[in-house]
Amino acid sequence: MLSTRTATHTSLASKQTGAQILKTLTSSTSTGLRPTFIVVRQYGLTNSHRNFSTTPQHRIKEFFPEADAPSVRKTPAAWPHPIYTPDQMAAIPIAHREATTFSDKCALGLARFARWGLDTVSGYKHDKAVALAEKDLAAAQTKYGMTEEKYMIRNIFLESIAGVPGMVAGMLRHLHSMRRMKRDNGWIETLLEESYNERMHLLTFLKMAEPGPFMRLMVLGAQGVFFNAFFVAYLVSPRAAHRFVGYIEEEAVITYTREIADLEAGRLPLWEKTVAPDIAVEYWKMPEGHRTMRDLLLYIRADEAKHREVNHTLGNLDQKNDPNPYASVYKDASKPHPTKGMEHHKPTGWERSDVL
Ligand SMILES: [Fe+2]
Ligand SMILES: [Fe+2]
Repeated sequence: MLSTRTATHTSLASKQTGAQILKTLTSSTSTGLRPTFIVVRQYGLTNSHRNFSTTPQHRIKEFFPEADAPSVRKTPAAWPHPIYTPDQMAAIPIAHREATTFSDKCALGLARFARWGLDTVSGYKHDKAVALAEKDLAAAQTKYGMTEEKYMIRNIFLESIAGVPGMVAGMLRHLHSMRRMKRDNGWIETLLEESYNERMHLLTFLKMAEPGPFMRLMVLGAQGVFFNAFFVAYLVSPRAAHRFVGYIEEEAVITYTREIADLEAGRLPLWEKTVAPDIAVEYWKMPEGHRTMRDLLLYIRADEAKHREVNHTLGNLDQKNDPNPYASVYKDASKPHPTKGMEHHKPTGWERSDVL
């Protein structure tokens, strides 16, 4: 994202804060000398259809080229993804869990603050856009309209952060189990699987867009700060940390719902012609005929909804002694209970008394 391809913008960069630059660049609508956060590629179109960037064709390199290992046939996903049905994915609701305790309220406040900060620096002003659209739709579209490029910048940045909490929480529980010589009761794997799933979201988007040096620097800085902040937060209050992730995932579901709505309304024409990259088709086992960009966003939104449910549920449990409901076998399997898939989905999480 720091990538500015002209001397003009490079000198400008030294005088502005990172946030200002990000805001300026993201909301920029100029062409020609416009700096590039990312180069967006379109699956399903010829390479000549690169509408976002003036980057020469030869500068777009292939991400994740095949490894040079002639004896290896395939390296499958370590955690196979559960199958989601189209009906399950279409039914994902926007939802909010009421914050009742003091720690819930702190977690919600922090999650809202994080969203506000990111919206501000990335020039994403949904509420203002909706308000203006009621008076003047064309003006709202010109001023605040989200493009495929803007969404892609946002998605890549967010997904690079989203893989942190599960890994930190899993790591801390792993260390705690060894240090205290106690069972973990199945939490670690679910948490690591969540971070793996978030990384798959990122890898999928990276197949469609190539981040510039600025974007890479932003990701590096954000990861350094967020990893350490979450590490400390999880040591202090794992319950509040899970609740915070639950609230962040509520926001993720909102964002992807808006992307799907914009796509369906014809506001993202390039994505209408885009197909899901192979890495996504394989990971989500996307069936033939359901491999469009819209399908991909439906899968990712469903994943975020699952993280929302899992983290709100974990936030309801006794952190030290309770088994992980998502890794447990139930005495009465016919009764609805937490699962890895989307059957019995509970958007605001399962209460402890309902599962244990
Ligand atoms: Fe994600
Ligand atoms: Fe997520």
